[in-house]
Amino acid sequence: MLHVRALRKSYGRLDVLRGLDLDVRPGEICGLLGRNGAGKTTLVSIVSGLCAADGGCVRIDGLDAFRDMRRIRSRIGVAPQDLGIYPTLSVRANLECFGGLNGVRGSALRLRIAEVAEELSLRDLLSRRAGTLSGGQKRRLHTALALLHDAKLLFLDEPTVGADVVSRSQLLAAVRRLAAAGCAVVYATHHLAEVEDMGASVAILEGGVIRERGDLASVVARHGRSTAELEFAGEAPVLAGWDRDGACIRRAAPDPARAAAAAIAALDGDATRLRNVRIVPASLESAYLAVTGHAPEPNGSDMERVDAVA
Ligand SMILES: Nc1ncnc2c1ncn2[C@@H]1O[C@H](COP(=O)(O)OP(=O)(O)OP(=O)(O)O)[C@@H](O)[C@H]1O
Ligand SMILES: [Mg+2]
Repeated sequence: MLHVRALRKSYGRLDVLRGLDLDVRPGEICGLLGRNGAGKTTLVSIVSGLCAADGGCVRIDGLDAFRDMRRIRSRIGVAPQDLGIYPTLSVRANLECFGGLNGVRGSALRLRIAEVAEELSLRDLLSRRAGTLSGGQKRRLHTALALLHDAKLLFLDEPTVGADVVSRSQLLAAVRRLAAAGCAVVYATHHLAEVEDMGASVAILEGGVIRERGDLASVVARHGRSTAELEFAGEAPVLAGWDRDGACIRRAAPDPARAAAAAIAALDGDATRLRNVRIVPASLESAYLAVTGHAPEPNGSDMERVDAVA
C-alpha cells in the first residue's frame, strides 16, 4: 500500500532523511519509532503530501504520490502531529468540513460522524467549539478527522499524546479494527507499549534511514536483551559488570538466570541482604535502545570474572 524508496529531505544543511526505504502492506500497522528529531513527522508530512521531498519516490496504492496526490488524497487519512483543526468551529462542523473535503457528504457523512464520534468518545463534545477542547480531546478530534472517510492508508503521528487511559485504549482498539478491515496504518509513537499492544510491525528511524524493520517478535529476537536484576535491603553492593542503581544491580545478558546465579554466588556477606531477584525478558524497549545505540554493551570479561568466582 505504501512504498517509499530513497527518500531524501534536508532543511538547509540539516539532512533529515538520507535515502529512506519503507514498505507497508494492507492490513499492517507499522509502528514508526525514533528519537525526538529523528524525522518521523518529516516522513509522514512528505508521504501524505503536506511537504515536498528533495528526492526519492513514494507510491501509494500503486500511484506516484508526487504526481497523483489529487487522486491519492481520498485514499489516505492523516492525523498530523501539529493540530490542524478550526478552533472557532464546533467539533461537528470540523468533522463535516474535513469529511466534505474528502468527498463524504450528506447522510453518509452524518452516519460516519456518528460512528467515529462514538468510537473516539466525541459524542458529547460535538457541539463544543474545537478551540475549547482539552489537549487530549483535541488529539481525539484530530484522529477522528483522519478516520472519517474510508482511507486505505492512515498516518497517525503520535495520536495518543495527552490521551487518558480510556481514550488511549479506545484509539488503539479503533486502529486495530481498521487494520483488521485491511487498512494500512503508519503509527508514529514514543509509547513502545502501544506497538506491543497492537502487535504492530516495527520501523526504527535513525540517522535518516529505517535502521530496523520487521515484525515485533523478530525485532525483539534480533536486538532485545533480557536482564537480571537483584534487589537488596539498603545500598546494593558493587559487583563488576553490573549497573548499580540504589538498592538494585542489573545487567543485560543472553542467559540472565545464569548471570544472576553467578552474581549471587559472588556476593559473600551481602547475600544476606538480598531481597528480590527478577529476570526481565527481552522487550521492544531493550531492542529499541540497542538499535539506536543507547543500550549498555554486555561486558564479556566482567561476566567471566563473576562466573569464575562462581
Ligand atoms: N520546517 C522545518 N524547518 C527546519 N527544520 C525542521 C523543520 N521541520 C523539522 N525540522 C527539523 O528536522 C528534524 C526532524 O524533525 P521531525 O519533526 O521530523 O522529527 P520527529 O522524529 O517527528 O520528532 P518528534 O519525536 O519530536 O516528533 C528536527 O531536527 C527538526 O528540528
Ligand atoms: Mg514528530
